[in-house]
Amino acid sequence: MECPRLLPFTHLALLFLISLTLADDPFFDFHCISKPGNYTPNSPYQANLNSIFSLLISPTTDFNYGFYNLSAGENPDQVYAMALCRGDRTQDVCISFLNETIAQLKQRCPMNKEAIGWHENCTLRYANRDMFGEMEYAPQSCNPSGMNASNPDQFNQALDQLLSNLSGIAADGGHLRKFAAGNLQLMGLFQFVYAIVQCSPDVSQGDCGSCLTQVKARVLGCCIGKWGCRAFSPSCFMRFESVLFYENAVPLPSSPPPTSTRGAGKGNNTTHTIIIIVASVVGVLTVITIAISIFIRRRTGPKCETADDNIKAETLQMDFAIVQVATDNFSDANKLGQGGFGAIYKR
Ligand SMILES: *[C@@H]1O[C@H](CO)[C@@H](O)[C@H](O)[C@H]1NC(C)=O
Ligand SMILES: *[C@@H]1O[C@H](CO)[C@@H](O)[C@H](O)[C@H]1NC(C)=O
Ligand SMILES: *[C@@H]1O[C@H](CO)[C@@H](O)[C@H](O)[C@H]1NC(C)=O
Ligand SMILES: *[C@@H]1O[C@H](CO)[C@@H](O)[C@H](O)[C@H]1NC(C)=O
Ligand SMILES: *[C@@H]1O[C@H](CO)[C@@H](O)[C@H](O)[C@H]1NC(C)=O
Repeated sequence: MECPRLLPFTHLALLFLISLTLADDPFFDFHCISKPGNYTPNSPYQANLNSIFSLLISPTTDFNYGFYNLSAGENPDQVYAMALCRGDRTQDVCISFLNETIAQLKQRCPMNKEAIGWHENCTLRYANRDMFGEMEYAPQSCNPSGMNASNPDQFNQALDQLLSNLSGIAADGGHLRKFAAGNLQLMGLFQFVYAIVQCSPDVSQGDCGSCLTQVKARVLGCCIGKWGCRAFSPSCFMRFESVLFYENAVPLPSSPPPTSTRGAGKGNNTTHTIIIIVASVVGVLTVITIAISIFIRRRTGPKCETADDNIKAETLQMDFAIVQVATDNFSDANKLGQGGFGAIYKR
């Protein structure tokens, strides 16, 4: 009796699962900075910090395109805070995640005068010193995600080019926001890399560029060959993934409506939707196939076990060639765009 072949289905199902997990990824990282020391419970410092926290989650505080520069109290108990929302997040979304970040930092750095929290949707820093306009590289955080890219050479080449391009655009973004998002097709493959980069808008164009250069060097070390990565420093961060994970940036005043250079953005959205739909259908089919195979195995005894184990091991390696072949057909049938940077926003 032949065992059922599950491989092509499981590959597509994995892609589907990656999309699902990306949509709801509870990313958080932080640093409690001990150098400036601790505050004592019920001290004026704590009261000032709490008043900053209330301001941050108040809808009446000026959103300022996602950048907060706040200060409370008088020396020596003065607290300074900066918060930065991702350029594609609205005030509502940002407030709810700032609230979460505040709760996390209260719990994890309970008495530190200085701390930094990196959430997926915002960065929050507070200290007993004025950080405004200071470019800071450290501390850093680099977090690879996903699996090894199956075409590392093409992937890294596209990634390097995309991150350099976006870094230039973000640095050039002006004093309100320094954010860029875009994607690039892997050379000769039907696969894209998607990325966002952002600097705190109070740092200069040159400082933003060098911060992103530093973080990019870090990324190309810590996340080399990976499908996804998030890397942060106090003044800038970047993230890349193999699927679309960002939204249209909230427009700035007097900026033209977001246009995608070479018109690749729209095509990629369509492609993404198609991949999701195909993957969903295939995901359901996979579950059914697995259910049937388990049913068959139950009836035929342990004969198929070895083959099934091999299949499980193989699927872990995530060979995207199969996805490529499947999606190439869509490419021809739908005449989808052939690459370039889509959805890049600048001031
Ligand atoms: C970030 O915000 C988006 C909404 O814009 C939300 O869907 C997502 O779950 C948030 N990320 C995290 C890690 O909570
Ligand atoms: C940011 O906050 C610092 C410290 O309170 C202040 O000196 C500076 O003027 C503020 N900058 C802006 C643009 O609000
Ligand atoms: C902030 O989170 C707390 C729970 O930690 C919740 O009770 C409160 O309503 C939240 N506030 C806002 C403005 O989201
Ligand atoms: C991913 O690649 C690294 C080195 O490039 C290797 O050490 C590791 O075993 C690989 N992981 C998988 C799951 O293939
Ligand atoms: C980024 O790439 C786009 C499209 O190829 C190009 O028009 C733009 O000049 C590049 N920008 C930078 C800063 O490299």
